Amino acid sequence: MTSLSPAQQRDITYQLHPYTNAVKHSQIGPRIIERGEGIYVFDDQGKQYIEGMAGLWSVAVGFNEQRLVDAAQRQMQKLPFYHTFTHKTHTPSIELAERLVQCTNGQMSTAFFTNSGSEANDTVIKMVWYYNNALNRPEKKKIIARNRGYHGVTVASASLTGLAPNHRGFDLPLPAMKHTTCPHYYREGRPGETEEDFATRMASDLEALILREGPETVAAFIGEPVMGAGGVIMPPNTYWDKIQAVCRKYDMLIIADEVITGFGRLGTLFGSEKYRIQPDIMVLSKQITSSYLPLAAVLLNDKVNAVITRQSGELGTFGHGYTASGHPVATAVAIENLNIIQEKGLVDNAASTGQVLQTALRALADHPLVGEVRGTGLIAAVELVADKGSRRPFDPLGSVGAAVYERAHEHGLLVRGIQDSIAFCPPLIITESQVHDMVDRFATTLDEVHKTL
Ligand SMILES: Cc1ncc(COP(=O)(O)O)c(C=O)c1O
Repeated sequence: MTSLSPAQQRDITYQLHPYTNAVKHSQIGPRIIERGEGIYVFDDQGKQYIEGMAGLWSVAVGFNEQRLVDAAQRQMQKLPFYHTFTHKTHTPSIELAERLVQCTNGQMSTAFFTNSGSEANDTVIKMVWYYNNALNRPEKKKIIARNRGYHGVTVASASLTGLAPNHRGFDLPLPAMKHTTCPHYYREGRPGETEEDFATRMASDLEALILREGPETVAAFIGEPVMGAGGVIMPPNTYWDKIQAVCRKYDMLIIADEVITGFGRLGTLFGSEKYRIQPDIMVLSKQITSSYLPLAAVLLNDKVNAVITRQSGELGTFGHGYTASGHPVATAVAIENLNIIQEKGLVDNAASTGQVLQTALRALADHPLVGEVRGTGLIAAVELVADKGSRRPFDPLGSVGAAVYERAHEHGLLVRGIQDSIAFCPPLIITESQVHDMVDRFATTLDEVHKTL
């Protein structure tokens, strides 16, 4: 970018951006995205981009779904706001809670609403503490997450997140949050170790951590069925079975953070379904409204719900909640969004079109920069390496990923560079030909970046 427009200048002057280097931002300015259409967004110069990340892993139905606009407008006109505190409620929140519980085929029994995934995970931490206090085991409070896991940015949820940038400079993580090994077979697997043996070792690592901390102090394990923001990391074969067995052995709650994997991303309605996870607590957000409005939900099974309900009676209230918990416009939009996902068969589309995406990306496996191609359904990553044979990463780590991310803009493609892994997570409405177009633009980008190295 050469000279900055007045709008860019005002953005620099008045806005501090999330996940942005503010010094660099003041030099290069922002890209201003003006409008959306299907899988595409357009900047203020009229340039079209394939939104290969569905925004932030989140826009299932595309960027101009009129039915969601209409649902929001209808609810705005009828009841733009009401709360759900102190025995009040409204129809959209009732309907959505019922719908979410029914979606889990009886596994979960109640829903609690928040505005974001971070708030939802913060809520989960408080629920786990409340639960163990109610059970008279006040020492059982630690929660184990994974290195490279992502669970949000509030003080407590950032402590669950296992990524250095979320801790550095913030005096985090809090001491009650512990991290176990990232189950990335390509990076963490040992020579000659099978994927199943690696999964066994990951479960042993978890057990060793629990024993070091003292099982009586460890309350829960949280994981994304497939890790997203940490680099689209797939659970190795048999991983979830083995991890769950360890959790049950030590009477720990299992929390499935389905903020990215919920509502079809992996080609199943939930990631838990795909990997036979039986969570006590499930966290949903993003695709719940296609991110048209902020909303998240915490689903509890009977076991947890019964204890929390009883304790709220003992203490006089469940002293937690947000002004906008179950916001009527957000929940109305979520209901219509789930209708669209169902009517258009978007979960099945993620499975079938996802297969096309996985095959097309794996066709790049021989490219000199490509170390690993991984993913399932409509989520994937291509990890770039300096040396394929030894899997040697680039030095500095992330430099080539950043170059690909930047260059892809020239080809009308928005992707995410996570260190040197390039992530893909397009809207669930994407078609086969659009998948090929997206992968072609990526392949061209990759060739161009390769020539510059
Ligand atoms: C798995 C997971 N959990 C939680 C969050 C946090 O959600 P939010 O950004 O809405 O706070 C995210 C966001 O990317 C996520 O991917």
